[in-house]
Amino acid sequence: MTLEEQIREAVAEGKTVGKPHIFRVGSKYVAKQFHEPFLASHDLRYANAAVRLGVRVPEPLGVYQVGKFHYFVMDFIDGVYRDDLSGEDWVNAFNQLEEAIFKLLRAGIDPNDSEWSQNSLYIVSEGQLYLIDYGHWQSAEHWAWNLWANYFRSVRSHMANPEMIEN
Ligand SMILES: Nc1ncnc2c1ncn2[C@@H]1O[C@H](COP(=O)(O)OP(=O)(O)OP(=O)(O)O)[C@@H](O)[C@H]1O
Ligand SMILES: [Mg+2]
Repeated sequence: MTLEEQIREAVAEGKTVGKPHIFRVGSKYVAKQFHEPFLASHDLRYANAAVRLGVRVPEPLGVYQVGKFHYFVMDFIDGVYRDDLSGEDWVNAFNQLEEAIFKLLRAGIDPNDSEWSQNSLYIVSEGQLYLIDYGHWQSAEHWAWNLWANYFRSVRSHMANPEMIEN
């Protein structure tokens, strides 16, 4: 069976995970359903960016059209929400989330997300947190560039101060 056929079957059988538009495809994958192709591509693009940056996400497979819908397909993560953790696992998940957000921001990506409790899954046996749901992610390059440029300008003007230049 092709992946498209597997998606069609999962949808027909109503094999949803978590929400009505997320489908479990076979044992390995999850397919997130979109009306608009650009939204599915948005998720794929940011998932690929995360992989490049070493930010842990479910391995992205691609975007597939089945009928009138577009599906972003990724690995199924058999994890739990961060809010359902306690003790060492909670702290571990928190630290991993913080590290992931810093990596993204430094690369000019703003995850712009207020629902981290639902948009990350933690696999207890691995001790590893996976970010999911890139719907709100956006390029923060202009923002990062302005910050950097302002900082650079202030450092330069500081250095240009004659009092700072040693004779
Ligand atoms: N790769 C995955 N593996 C396992 N479960 C997943 C995966 N992706 C999503 N889920 C489940 O589906 C839920 C919803 O996923 P997601 O956050 O991507 O959708 P959403 O919040 O509806 O997205 P959006 O805000 O873009 O509409 C998750 O909280 C999780 O329970
Ligand atoms: Mg979500």
